[in-house]
Amino acid sequence: MYVLGISCHYHDASATLLKDGEVVAAADEERFTRKKHDDDFPVHAIGYCLRQAGITMKDVDCVGFYEKPLLKFERVLFSFLHYFPRSLPVFLAMMPSWLTEKLRIPETVRKKLGWKGRMVFIRHHESHAASAFFPSPFQEAAILTVDGVGEWTTAAYGVGRGNQMELWKEMRFPHSLGLFYSMVTGYLGFKVNSDEYKVMGLAGYGKPVYYEKMKQVFRSFPDGSYENNLDYFDFMSLERMFSARFEREFGRPRKPGERVEQHHIDLACSLQQILEESMVALARHVQKETGLKKLCMAGGVALNCVANARILKEAGFDELYVQPAAGDSGGSMGVAFHAYHHVLGRPRSFVLEKPYLGPGYSPEEIRAYLEANRIRHRELSVDGMLGETARLIQANHIVGWFQGRMEWGPRALGCRSILANAMHPDMKDILNSRVKHREDFRPFAPAALLEEARDYFEIRQPDPFMVLVCDVKKGKQKLLPSITHIDGTARLQTVDRKINPLFHALIREFKKLTGVPVVINTSFNVKGEPIVCSPHDAFKCFAGTGIDFLVMDRFIIDKKDISGVDRDKLVNPWRLNC
Ligand SMILES: [Fe+2]
Repeated sequence: MYVLGISCHYHDASATLLKDGEVVAAADEERFTRKKHDDDFPVHAIGYCLRQAGITMKDVDCVGFYEKPLLKFERVLFSFLHYFPRSLPVFLAMMPSWLTEKLRIPETVRKKLGWKGRMVFIRHHESHAASAFFPSPFQEAAILTVDGVGEWTTAAYGVGRGNQMELWKEMRFPHSLGLFYSMVTGYLGFKVNSDEYKVMGLAGYGKPVYYEKMKQVFRSFPDGSYENNLDYFDFMSLERMFSARFEREFGRPRKPGERVEQHHIDLACSLQQILEESMVALARHVQKETGLKKLCMAGGVALNCVANARILKEAGFDELYVQPAAGDSGGSMGVAFHAYHHVLGRPRSFVLEKPYLGPGYSPEEIRAYLEANRIRHRELSVDGMLGETARLIQANHIVGWFQGRMEWGPRALGCRSILANAMHPDMKDILNSRVKHREDFRPFAPAALLEEARDYFEIRQPDPFMVLVCDVKKGKQKLLPSITHIDGTARLQTVDRKINPLFHALIREFKKLTGVPVVINTSFNVKGEPIVCSPHDAFKCFAGTGIDFLVMDRFIIDKKDISGVDRDKLVNPWRLNC
């Protein structure tokens, strides 16, 4: 039985295909269209899922959509009416997309996919909850979902047991921890629904001097509930989410690209502290209410890995599962699992341990691409490639690492990664100036062998999806200057031989040379672009940046050898057809 899940029309559209309850394929639309956070109907992601399974839509038994558009529209209309006539410009700006796309999902599915069969619509937070619980290794667990807003819900919790789940309680719009965080993200000059993790990184440099003041804007209570003071919010502006009062009390907002001042850093720190405390209070309440020791979380706020680490430490749970696409793109997976288990009553047998659910490319395809474009390369044995790549990283070269199937979710986890030497004291600056061009306050993440990670990091559980921060051990911080954040933490990926044997073998090779089983692992993309998907995307990114070597499967390309290749005339066999 095949179930196709779809999420789209807000941000990060995606598709997931299940076969008999196992994920065959899952990917974000942005990876194919190369438009970051693409929210269009994910026709390319769906096409990929079907090709991966070797089927057509005729073989699909059920299609699920990750939210209930009419219910969401009700909230949108309610808000418009509440703020009328001031809301008129927003109303006029938003209505066309509601009337032509968002309320016409069944029609779009029929037209674009030729689908006439069964469709299931579930609530946004049910999708989040299902995406968190059903692929988890737990037979029974508490579930907590927290985001900006779905239809009306902004947070929910309940319990999953076997192939069923139930959300007991919810918090509703306009009270929202996610919208509070996003509002201040926008005020600080960063992109809403995109750059929240930058604010999280910035927070580490500040002091929570605005903590009390900010509690006037957002208050949380011991039972985990919370309240936004609406005097500080403006949900009816096209440009911003904060009100004139917020600006009066917190000062002029930072424009994108302007210098980040101490004031902004301290605001980020105060905001992050409130978010962490609210999440811990909420999770603690969920633990008491459910009496369970395992927690599954999803929703955009569950991507805040600093808050996640505090929940694991302080909320009374023994284990936490956050699947890699915990934000809205994970909704396609959530609705697919919900339809299969909860609606159709099928039993669970699948655990999402490997995040490598995107497209993969054979050595023959890569060789053909390199030859068609006359790109000089060396082809080595797998062992030869591993040894050579480890030597390149040891010699402080920046390596583009393209292997196997692409990761599911926003993090590069060792298949579409840029790798570098974490022991080089200036590697963060080198990576930033030559490749990533990121804000210099943002840390780079380490990847370490699972079995040796505890010698370098304080970890409570393995973290193959990079969803938790941890402390770098005091005695190791000087050894790993390029991955240790200002506050002594790191967002670690533990690399398990069973989950990613090739990446594990590479770090083992690196350890043989250096004695240290840790490398820098950052996503294979440049600022403003999605992570690379195909060998063509990888080569273009490599050619256009200061990456020194590109390692694709067993093929190694030296930057020095590609000066004659015209990037604009490359033959791309995967053009919108990956
Ligand atoms: Fe969401």
